[in-house]
Amino acid sequence: MAILPILTTPDPRLKMVSEPVEAVTDETRKLMDDMLETMYDAPGIGLAAIQVGIAKNIIVMDISEAGAPAAPRYFVNPEILESVEEKKPYEEGCLSVPEYFNVIDRPEKVKITYLDYNGERVTEWAEGLYAVCIQHEMDHLKGILFIDYLSRMKRDQALRKVRKVNKMNASA
Ligand code: NI
Repeated sequence: MAILPILTTPDPRLKMVSEPVEAVTDETRKLMDDMLETMYDAPGIGLAAIQVGIAKNIIVMDISEAGAPAAPRYFVNPEILESVEEKKPYEEGCLSVPEYFNVIDRPEKVKITYLDYNGERVTEWAEGLYAVCIQHEMDHLKGILFIDYLSRMKRDQALRKVRKVNKMNASA
């Protein structure tokens, strides 16, 4: 496995629309393994392939509680089939917008379908943090960052924060 560099905003690649994966192969699994290691190292709870510069519809996630055993989840070609009307606020962050957090409203339950690590079709309802995270990550596949839902002023604040963090990391 390998830790891959994570792109941060305003890298234009984060605006790309990702492409469907034709088949879940060993190459796909190798990428998912690397993405998971990259996500754990960051650390984060979700990562989309475009965040490591690969425009494919692939997401990895682990929303298990701190101290609980690792529970990695893998999503290839995820789609949202249904969303409930009720929305719920949650304070989101993103590895591509380091150290910036803000509250986003999203449907509190979504029915999703995707291929798992073995290429098996899974269809299920996601709720709670799972619903927040899968919607956030699926936005990445469409080139959308959570800060795109905020006002211009807040987005600029986020960009300034990212510039500062990147500068500090570069000089560290
Ligand atoms: Ni993100």
